[in-house]
Amino acid sequence: DLMREALGLKELEAALQEQLGIPRVIVVAGDSDRSPWVKKEMGRACVACMKELLEPGDIVAVAGGTTMAAVAEMMTPDSKLRDVLFVPARGGLGEDVENQANTICAKMAEKAMGRYRLLHVPDQLSDEAYASLVEEPAVKEVLELIQSCRMVVHGIGEAVTMAKRRKTPPVEMENIIARHAVAEAFGYYFNEYGDVVHKVKTVGIQLEHLPHVEHVIAVAGGASKAKAIRAYMKRAPHSLLVTDEGAAKAFVGE
Ligand code: BG6
Repeated sequence: DLMREALGLKELEAALQEQLGIPRVIVVAGDSDRSPWVKKEMGRACVACMKELLEPGDIVAVAGGTTMAAVAEMMTPDSKLRDVLFVPARGGLGEDVENQANTICAKMAEKAMGRYRLLHVPDQLSDEAYASLVEEPAVKEVLELIQSCRMVVHGIGEAVTMAKRRKTPPVEMENIIARHAVAEAFGYYFNEYGDVVHKVKTVGIQLEHLPHVEHVIAVAGGASKAKAIRAYMKRAPHSLLVTDEGAAKAFVGE
């Protein structure tokens, strides 16, 4: 803690909490845009936070992305994680397998020596297929577990970067650009005011559920994500943020 004080991380945390109007911010040293190991440090900080807040028997919904993959990688077993159930936050969002919530959820549960359930739903569904799939008992059961989660852990992305990574069809891409999306989180795209301007249709946690979830942890860093983090936090004021010095200094410098 003395080290963190000397580095000025505590001050950055206080400044960000105030600027973003959120209850808790954790800042790790470095900039994940430049040094890949910083993502793992965010992962470590996020794991500590999860262990602090979780109770045996809780359900945790986890989103996808490379930052969440780092959280999974840094996960370790703990008595607090006994009987914790890990589930993916939402169904397919067009990500490659290593970035999918299912993959990350399974890995995190294995590292925690906890349990997991997965959602097996394809990415692009017609309205009819979607309606009948959510009525399938196996899917329905997992969806109910997701909806009763006590914690959601997710990344935040820069909108156009995410849309490209997901190979978003041209029509949707045009919409994302025309409506000035700057942020993305679990398949929702937001403009700088925090309004939803586009959404990937899938099952699982919807934005409206978040205010009812006891603990929501967002993990995102790198100076390139500062704008995205600011925009998203307008929409999610009870979140806890784990970020890095790169993003934090970009805010303060603005
Ligand atoms: C996606 C998540 O898989 O990854 C989003 O659904 C998140 O919530 C995005 O914004 C971030 O990815 P990364 O690789 O920048 O951590």
